Amino acid sequence: MTDVLTPVLSANWADERPWKITNYEHRGGYSALRKALVQAPSQVMDVVKESGLRGRGGAGFPTGMKWSFVPQANPNPKYLVVNADESEPGTCKDMPLMLASPHTLVEGVIISSYAIGCKYAFIYCRGEVLHVIRRLQQAVREAYSSGYLGRNILGSGFDLDVVVHAGAGAYICGEETALLDSLEGRRGQPRLRPPFPAVAGLYACPTVINNVESIASVPAIIEHGARWFSSMGTEKSKGMTIYSLSGHVQRPGQFEAPLGITLRQLLELSGGMREGHQLKFWTPGGSSTPILTADHLDVPLDYEGMAAAGTMLGTKALQCFDETTSVVRTTLRWVEFYKHESCGKCTPCREGNWWLVQLLTAFEQGKAVPGDIEKLLDICDDIGGRSFCALADGAVACVTSAVRHFRSEFEAGMKTPAWELFPYQASALFGARQEVHA
Ligand SMILES: Cc1cc2nc3c(=O)[nH]c(=O)nc-3n(C[C@H](O)[C@H](O)[C@H](O)COP(=O)(O)O)c2cc1C
Ligand code: SF4
Repeated sequence: MTDVLTPVLSANWADERPWKITNYEHRGGYSALRKALVQAPSQVMDVVKESGLRGRGGAGFPTGMKWSFVPQANPNPKYLVVNADESEPGTCKDMPLMLASPHTLVEGVIISSYAIGCKYAFIYCRGEVLHVIRRLQQAVREAYSSGYLGRNILGSGFDLDVVVHAGAGAYICGEETALLDSLEGRRGQPRLRPPFPAVAGLYACPTVINNVESIASVPAIIEHGARWFSSMGTEKSKGMTIYSLSGHVQRPGQFEAPLGITLRQLLELSGGMREGHQLKFWTPGGSSTPILTADHLDVPLDYEGMAAAGTMLGTKALQCFDETTSVVRTTLRWVEFYKHESCGKCTPCREGNWWLVQLLTAFEQGKAVPGDIEKLLDICDDIGGRSFCALADGAVACVTSAVRHFRSEFEAGMKTPAWELFPYQASALFGARQEVHA
């Protein structure tokens, strides 16, 4: 099964101190930058376009196309902002990447900035992960001392400065326009679009915002070519990507494989579900993507496969839950998160998530009454598609899909508390984790 894995971004993670610039260079690091700098910026952009790379932050928007929206004739500065907030529950791919190999991202930032005509780039990193921020800052310092950043990079005439900015740990600041407000020193709340950031983003200047993994994929694409990248994956979902597997699996962690692999294949790689247990439900891309069940084990993990199954690929955060887990309790925990993280700007999300928590708590406690399932779905209908940003759509996705697949558990929540049907200790992970690390 190991031939299913395609380690590119994670190829050096097990090296000795892979975060040091000398070790990164020893592996061929920064040679893609040398290749890019002897081409015209438009050529670099074309390679990324041809590769078929789609944004790895959740929505899967084609990266090269996004870059081409930046109006080159606009006399204002152009900015590149890397979204390193990574707050989607279950998602753990960008942080390990930046911790193990920050130079993959830094090299990607330099090449991408060159392609879009940016001279000042930002990496907006979630504030709580101080160790990752320090590692990024060190990598940026190393890149300056080696002549990869600053003035006249490698004698090309191209100048670039990079700032690592620490956020303050709000989920909404991962939403790209809230991120921009936060970066400008304001309270992080989504902006009205249009204008889109490509035209008026940071400081009202043309701005490209991309996920860490999207930008970190650029050096490999420049190094090996668009055809190499698009030879991996499926017809419309090209390349390799990092899946983060968590929950009741034997070996949780990051698995880099082509788009279009299935959860069944990934579970084989991770030793399957914990011994004696079966998969009950899972998220394909974090809690904001509708849940799936064991019936979906063979659906390709790509944008089209997931859409056909009524969900989304999202961040490829595969949280796997076995039969000991209460769907009602899990959904409540997720919605508590959205209620807490709602920025409060619009009423359906601010008030609606509060009401969802009240109702789901009743289901968890076995105190729901007939009609509450309909009320739950009705509130979801009032929130999804009627709020200012996609946080609210994500919040209701877990609720509606949970009712769709496990309605009987919600019906049981009118009589019996979830902790009686699904005792906490049965689904607790602690014992299993100890075994894994023994
Ligand atoms: C509530 C919310 C949180 C988000 N959090 C992140 C995040 O942590 N990282 C990220 O890259 N994108 C996040 N996004 C998506 C971004 O808005 C944006 O689409 C993405 O950064 C674009 O990068 P890409 O094209 O490379 O995928 C979030 C979106 C929403 C609505
Ligand atoms: S949907 Fe929620 S998070 Fe988004 S703007 Fe409205 S209140 Fe804020």
